[in-house]
Amino acid sequence: MSRQQGVPVIAIDGPSGSGKGTIARRVANALGWHLLDSGALYRLVALAAERRGIGLADTEALAGVAADLNVRFGTGADQDEEIWLDDELVTEAARTEEAGAGASAVAALQPVRDALLSRQKAFRRPPGLVADGRDMGTQVFADAVLKVFLVATPEERAKRRHKQLKDKGIDVSLAALSRDIENRDRRDSERPVAPLVPAEDARILDSSGRSVDAVTKTVLDWIAELGIAGQG
Ligand code: DC
Repeated sequence: MSRQQGVPVIAIDGPSGSGKGTIARRVANALGWHLLDSGALYRLVALAAERRGIGLADTEALAGVAADLNVRFGTGADQDEEIWLDDELVTEAARTEEAGAGASAVAALQPVRDALLSRQKAFRRPPGLVADGRDMGTQVFADAVLKVFLVATPEERAKRRHKQLKDKGIDVSLAALSRDIENRDRRDSERPVAPLVPAEDARILDSSGRSVDAVTKTVLDWIAELGIAGQG
């Protein structure tokens, strides 16, 4: 077994708006582990392609963009995620609904997924990794020591996204957002490559009506119960 394979991974997968990003960050901070926001990589492929005028039909060029992605993740003063693309801060641009829809489209292309695989695996470093996405537990880190599949009702997910965007001063109607979420779920779940499905050994966690603290606590309790410890 390589040194990297011995490093524990906690996979947190689920649909958009289920709270995976927030919960993954909380858990990673609580443990002092690394964090992989894999959705951000797909969002950046879509963003970089758009900036270079590459259309969503040009699979080969998109795979090239994914392979050459010059991305850096950082943490801002308030502990929030910072995303840099070609040394430009693009956190806000990467979080828009347009970037999310573009990400969902490029993520359905196997060559793009292949191009991002080794990059995602490289996040696995001691003492451990918390990875959030759609296929962390099924494909990228199938040997994760804990697989959480986070769900929430579609209404709650749309409301959360609405609030998040509103807090950022972005005005989108709740109905339009619900429709977008529904479309994105369908595309992510029905695609032939790495569809959004819980791993067979995943623990399903419903965050509907529960606070971030309560959901984080459930995950941390599972980690303690399983005796999961960081390496090194
Ligand atoms: O988690 P997110 O909303 O940032 O993800 C954006 C899109 O990227 C999502 O609609 C599907 C895709 N994605 C994926 O296919 N596999 C992942 N591991 C993460 C995201």
